[in-house]
Amino acid sequence: MTETEAPAETVATDRRTLLEARDLRVEFASRGRRARAVDGVNLAVGEGEIVALVGESGCGKTTLARTLLGLERPTAGTVHFDGEPLKYGSKALKNYRKQVQLVLQDPTGSLNPRHTVYEAVAEGPRIHGLPDEEEIVNSALSRAGLRPPERFLLRYPHELSGGQRQRVVIAGALALNPKVLIADEPVASLDASVRGEILALMLKLRDELGLSALVVTHDLGLAWNIADRVAVMYLGRIVESGPVEQVLTAPRHPYTQALLSVLPESPERVVLTGEPPDPTRIPGGCRFHARCQVLASGKAAEAGVDARCRGELLDILPASAGAQAACYYADATG
Ligand SMILES: Nc1ncnc2c1ncn2[C@@H]1O[C@H](COP(=O)(O)OP(=O)(O)OP(=O)(O)O)[C@@H](O)[C@H]1O
Ligand code: SF4
Ligand SMILES: [Mg+2]
Repeated sequence: MTETEAPAETVATDRRTLLEARDLRVEFASRGRRARAVDGVNLAVGEGEIVALVGESGCGKTTLARTLLGLERPTAGTVHFDGEPLKYGSKALKNYRKQVQLVLQDPTGSLNPRHTVYEAVAEGPRIHGLPDEEEIVNSALSRAGLRPPERFLLRYPHELSGGQRQRVVIAGALALNPKVLIADEPVASLDASVRGEILALMLKLRDELGLSALVVTHDLGLAWNIADRVAVMYLGRIVESGPVEQVLTAPRHPYTQALLSVLPESPERVVLTGEPPDPTRIPGGCRFHARCQVLASGKAAEAGVDARCRGELLDILPASAGAQAACYYADATG
């Protein structure tokens, strides 16, 4: 290997890696304690790839997304874009925002009710002093499926449907011609039929513009429909990742198995016991051990890994494209 090649474990896919978290940690002060919201994450998003980040409330998804956007500074580790470490000076960050755009979950909350569609979509290009503002706005609206754009330019958010508002938010992101969209629960507030339309739009943007996306969601069905790869987060770490079909049809980590067991088609529901996870008190050993159904049922002991589950820290998973799980039992049983 030559010096300029990235080490194997940082290469996510055969696609070129665009956005990457390397050993990322983000801590907050929380009532006199340290909350380790992101506690050692490697994650890579390749060019034209859609990665879903799933996990229950409070596991650190939004914190990871905000750190990838440069909105939060990591306590340790780095964010890389296009092979370069992110710089936090105001000019560098402003430039970065053109490439990596946030799409928020609640289109009503992220649109100013007193701004027309034109003003909402023109805001980014104006901040960045881009020429041909009208043309940019028209083209972004059409790419977001609001056609013909002239019909929408002078409307206000309250005159639009929920799906149209979400499209305006997406158009606002597209106006800067980004390479990556980071969508935090992009369709959570929409009803099912509109949700399908917005998902189809995201896939179309990927196919037509080669856009990459990190889609943060609670919804495993959404991950299944949209993502190439999925990363499952638990208490600040990615505990399982890989191609979406593999992770969602043959999950190896007990936490992923428990998440999937709540789906209606699942044969048997796993009810997690123990305290809900608290990032100010991350347990030793495997961070999931106090709630793990495989450990509780004695299966980990049968496989001879129970002492490690309780007492030995697991390695941080690399940002690899293949299926992988941070679990002693999964390792021992293949
Ligand atoms: N600014 C902050 N100051 C202190 N603690 C924070 C801050 N932001 C997040 N946290 C804590 O970090 C943890 C992770 O929060 P985060 O919002 O990233 O989770 P999430 O996975 O996005 O949850 P949800 O699914 O509910 O959106 C939580 O315990 C939260 O309370
Ligand atoms: S390492 Fe042990 S405690 Fe952790 S998820 Fe695997 S079986 Fe459960
Ligand atoms: Mg969140």
